[in-house]
Amino acid sequence: MRYLRLILFVAIIFVILAIPASLVLARSYFLAPTAQPVKDQPIHFPHTVHVQALGMDCTYCHRSVTVEAHAGLPSVELCMQCHKIILPQGRPELEKLVAAFQENRPILWNKVHQLPDHSHFVHSVHVSYGLECSTCHGNVGAMGKPGVKQVRDLRMGDCLNCHQQMGARMDCSSCHY
Ligand code: HEC
Ligand code: HEC
Ligand code: HEC
Ligand code: HEC
Ligand code: HEC
Repeated sequence: MRYLRLILFVAIIFVILAIPASLVLARSYFLAPTAQPVKDQPIHFPHTVHVQALGMDCTYCHRSVTVEAHAGLPSVELCMQCHKIILPQGRPELEKLVAAFQENRPILWNKVHQLPDHSHFVHSVHVSYGLECSTCHGNVGAMGKPGVKQVRDLRMGDCLNCHQQMGARMDCSSCHY
């Protein structure tokens, strides 16, 4: 009898813990990848021109991607290193850039990828391991108008799948802290 109670207790605790955990996993695995609409941006920035035509490296603009959690977005000053000498006349997207520079205003880009606050992604770890940007972001260099869109699920089920395949950490605290 003593053992029966103990077993029952353990079983109940197990069910209490397992149901929400499996629901979370099921939700991540089985929900169709979100077909995200492309977000409108304050300036239509063409990755095509800068990456494909000019051959610029991703890290020229996303400077902290190899050393920090966040990839970072370029400042207006960085854009103006080149665009000071490229005439904006008759090109409204460049006129907006020059106006922001003259008024000392940052450009408020809308976020395309964004994890909820309770979960953490670290770019530097993945990039120094040797993963290409395109593994998670697709061919950004070919994304002209209307702009960058999210091409990979990048929710928990997706993170865990790759982590399991590559022998990376699976414990909750590696991503939730
Ligand atoms: C000349 C600067 C520049 C270069 C070079 C550049 N980017 Fe970007 N990138 C931007 C700007 C500006 C934005 C914000 C506007 C947008 O989202 O379209 C951006 C946005 C992004 C985003 C979406 C960010 C978000 O909000 O989630 C990704 C992903 C990205 N770039 C990846 C890349 C990759 C991969 C490369 C190299 C193949 C690259 N970028 C090269 C300037 C650049
Ligand atoms: C290394 C130099 C360089 C940097 C840095 C750079 N650009 Fe450019 N950009 C160019 C060149 C060159 C062109 C092509 C200009 C042309 O067609 O005459 C261009 C084209 C563009 C265009 C398209 C203009 C049009 O309508 O034809 C936009 C918009 C633009 N850049 C915005 C930006 C923004 C925003 C940044 C910073 C995030 C940036 N650029 C950083 C060199 C640069
Ligand atoms: C293993 C998948 C993965 C790889 C590889 C990866 N990213 Fe990301 N990227 C993400 C995720 C997930 C986010 C959302 C992060 C968040 O919301 O905290 C993101 C966000 C971004 C952003 C938006 C803002 C920011 O500062 O984080 C940019 C820009 C970006 N990535 C660029 C790049 C570039 C450039 C590379 C290659 C050098 C790259 N990423 C490689 C998964 C990846
Ligand atoms: C395409 C494969 C892949 C995807 C997708 C991926 N990761 Fe990773 N991740 C790795 C690899 C490989 C490592 C281990 C790198 C090492 O050991 O040096 C890693 C390491 C990490 C680490 C560092 C753990 C530590 O050692 O402290 C965190 C945090 C992390 N990933 C979070 C995420 C999150 C959050 C997502 C989803 C948004 C994600 N990863 C998606 C492959 C991936
Ligand atoms: C490799 C990274 C990673 C690991 C390890 C991880 N998670 Fe997550 N988790 C995420 C990401 C990213 C999200 C946010 C996106 C989403 O909702 O799937 C998330 C979301 C969640 C959510 C919220 C789901 C919702 O509906 O909003 C819960 C709860 C959760 N995780 C619990 C756990 C538990 C418990 C563990 C350990 C067994 C764990 N996670 C391990 C990356 C991870």
